[in-house]
Amino acid sequence: MIPANIEDYRLMAKKRLPKFLFEYIDGGAFSETTLRNNILDLQTINVRQRVLRDISNIDTSCELFGRRYNLPLILAPVGIAGLNARRGEVLAAQAAEQKNIPFSLSTVGVCTIEEVARQTTSPFWFQLYMIKDRGFLNAILERAKNSGVTNLIFTVDMPIPSSRYRDIRSGLSGGSPLRRQTARLLQSMLKPNWAWDVGLRGRPHNLGNVAPALKKNAGIDEFWAWLGQNFDPSVTWQTLESIRENWQGNLIIKGILDPRDADQAKALGADGIIVSNHGGRQLDGALSSIQALPAIGERIAGEIPIIVDGGIRSGLDIIRAIALGANAVMIGRPWVYGLSARKKQGVLDVISIFENEMRVAMGLSGNTQVSQLNRDILVL
Ligand SMILES: Cc1cc2nc3c(=O)[nH]c(=O)nc-3n(C[C@H](O)[C@H](O)[C@H](O)COP(=O)(O)O)c2cc1C
Repeated sequence: MIPANIEDYRLMAKKRLPKFLFEYIDGGAFSETTLRNNILDLQTINVRQRVLRDISNIDTSCELFGRRYNLPLILAPVGIAGLNARRGEVLAAQAAEQKNIPFSLSTVGVCTIEEVARQTTSPFWFQLYMIKDRGFLNAILERAKNSGVTNLIFTVDMPIPSSRYRDIRSGLSGGSPLRRQTARLLQSMLKPNWAWDVGLRGRPHNLGNVAPALKKNAGIDEFWAWLGQNFDPSVTWQTLESIRENWQGNLIIKGILDPRDADQAKALGADGIIVSNHGGRQLDGALSSIQALPAIGERIAGEIPIIVDGGIRSGLDIIRAIALGANAVMIGRPWVYGLSARKKQGVLDVISIFENEMRVAMGLSGNTQVSQLNRDILVL
């Protein structure tokens, strides 16, 4: 198949990856209602077609946190992405750099902050969860600073991990350790390309950033156990104040879905927020991100940048989200599908798809600048 859109890359990823990895990327919480609504609610937003408006010079660029990017599009933090292609986070960061858009590295990435920094030249964004061990938390902030990170994403919608049935069934998190390991081994053997590229040549397979907190040669089960024990469910806005005090760079709070929480983030001194339900992976039944966005925009638009993620699958979705109050969007699964399907080239291709589609959608709705994308371009 010659892939044309994000769904095509999804199908290619499914073919290439062991089942437990594909299901981890593709799945969501509980009955996956929010996951589905993230995508469907965007598709029901009608865009106004306009004609004869000289669209020969379309500019998709935007400014975020003092830097100009080619697109209002950011690669979202995705855990263990480095297992989907050899040293996957480095490849994605390089693709993002080549396309002049930001890449965000997850706390639970396979590649460390330092490895990504060594293999790229532009600054990338780093995402952090609230970890109980504050010594570890402060050390990781220091490491991010020393590696040139200036934009810190602090994710707040995971004080407790949700139930993802697909991960239980696939053997990623369910069953006895022996059953899990056997299932993963068998699934890996069924995908020889992946087994050769990542299984054999992509070591180490650990979560690089948290490895210092674990014993040597810890396997994936030990890492999950450490995460389960170290995510801090007692975190409050007060706890975040200490992060704000310790971090001089931009602080972007990820996982806001309610306007009151957006107000609190602003009051805390956040430099930006990400309207997100974690891609439908946490509270199933929560509003889709695009449904939540307008009320949040009404409260804080123009004061601090609003980024939205969840279900963005085309360049058309980017203009819908910006029209409803976002300054930029993030994509999670789409770039990981690309990476899984075709390594770095797959991420480049996925970004190009978003870029080309956004250009077409802007032109056919009669717009040439991102700043023109407001509610008037929609038929609401
Ligand atoms: C496989 C997977 C792992 C993720 N890991 C993280 C993570 O480590 N940290 C984080 O803040 N968000 C994480 N997310 C959420 C994404 O950053 C983002 O919010 C979400 O994927 C956006 O939805 P989309 O996949 O529909 O684009 C993850 C998402 C997926 C699909």
